[in-house]
Amino acid sequence: MAKPWSPASWRDRPIRQQPTYADADARAAVEARLGDFPPLVFAGEARNLRAQLAAVAEGRAFLLQGGDCAESFAEFHPDHIRDTFRVLLQMAVVLTFGAGCPVVKLGRMAGQFAKPRSGDMETQDGVDLPSYRGDIVNRIEFTAQAREPQPALMLEAYSQAAATLNLLRAFAHGGYADLHQVQRWNLGFVAGSPQGERYRDIAYRISESLDFMAACGLNSDNVPELARTDFFTSHEALLLGYEQALTRIDSTTGDWYDCAAHLLWIGERTRALDEAHVEFLRGVNNPIGVKIGPTMDEDTLVHLIDRLDPHNQPGRLTLISRMGADKVASVLPPLLSRVKGEGRHVVWACDPMHGNTIKSSTGYKTRPFDKILAEVRDFFQAHQAEGTYAGGVHFEMTGRDVTECIGGAQAITEEGLRDRYHTHCDPRLNASQSLELAFLIAEELKAVRVGAERPVAAAQ
Ligand code: PEP
Ligand code: CO
Repeated sequence: MAKPWSPASWRDRPIRQQPTYADADARAAVEARLGDFPPLVFAGEARNLRAQLAAVAEGRAFLLQGGDCAESFAEFHPDHIRDTFRVLLQMAVVLTFGAGCPVVKLGRMAGQFAKPRSGDMETQDGVDLPSYRGDIVNRIEFTAQAREPQPALMLEAYSQAAATLNLLRAFAHGGYADLHQVQRWNLGFVAGSPQGERYRDIAYRISESLDFMAACGLNSDNVPELARTDFFTSHEALLLGYEQALTRIDSTTGDWYDCAAHLLWIGERTRALDEAHVEFLRGVNNPIGVKIGPTMDEDTLVHLIDRLDPHNQPGRLTLISRMGADKVASVLPPLLSRVKGEGRHVVWACDPMHGNTIKSSTGYKTRPFDKILAEVRDFFQAHQAEGTYAGGVHFEMTGRDVTECIGGAQAITEEGLRDRYHTHCDPRLNASQSLELAFLIAEELKAVRVGAERPVAAAQ
């Protein structure tokens, strides 16, 4: 029998990946203030996402989760939010149109600030300083002052998350996401590329269909779904003091929700069964995710599912597989088979980013497009072989024209990485690479859904 849960019960458990604040009273004061701030999302919205994820778990929809590795205060700009939002919309259009499948749109946005690190300290030229843990904790410059964890940064993160969410809601509901705008979502710098042209073709066909529907009397006025979309937010629930402060009782059900985002996930480095992060998320009623890396074994996975989703509710739990292109084909199938054998209704999503990070010869952390695609393909293949459903993808991406991942149709080289390498943490796909992947995944998904032959070679 599990011990009683409370929003603070994680505090009695061992915890990893937390900053050490010099002034514990200042931290507690900030958390208390955050506790009085309005929730960023509402329980009803989180339940709506959960219902949509239940459709994914049942094979009736597909999950597209994407956004920055780490949002930053320096890159905070309405144009960046808009550009990432519209690439996600474009990708969703490609997947919906290409595979005839509803797409659940989930941003790594409006709260994705805290980062796990491989070491507590970073050494440069013989100097040791605390590692950068994301803008919600400390600053990235390598000085003692910048690296000192500051509780007040939690307030700034809250404020940026609130403003971002406000704009995302306006985009999703205020006309920008109206399907009649589908041709306008093509970003300037992508429009002339092969992906941009392929997208334009789809957009044109959708517009034609909308004209036909309008002639039949169906338009945004009488079919409001055409004029708006559901867009949800997510982040890694890492900095638990912040998450606890935003955890509230839903007045309509009496249940607890973490109102910092619609979906929260536990990272690969903090998913130990009896530790703080699993303890915290087991008690909130949001849909939740867990990253699953190549060291995961079948028994541990089943225990984790039992702990996080004891009632086996479809849509509650998304397992985000991040094995690496070289391992996924051998490591994933036994896990799929066991989870299926246990009769668990989880969503399986593929994060092809975190198992495929390498250091380029020019010194940059990067990810090869080919490896990203290979992991997605093997993920689909493994599901097909096990008779389970490949339910979604999880990308680190941006709408900006960055050069952080090598390869793709743009053929970004190791040399080319230095041109526009802006990320605060892990390398992201740019808009063009993201769209290219969406086209390739749409082919995989279509093959699964209509039983058509799987594509063998990468399309252009
Ligand atoms: C992340 O999603 O940015 C991350 C750190 O992932 P993981 O926990 O899978 O390493
Ligand atoms: Co990352």
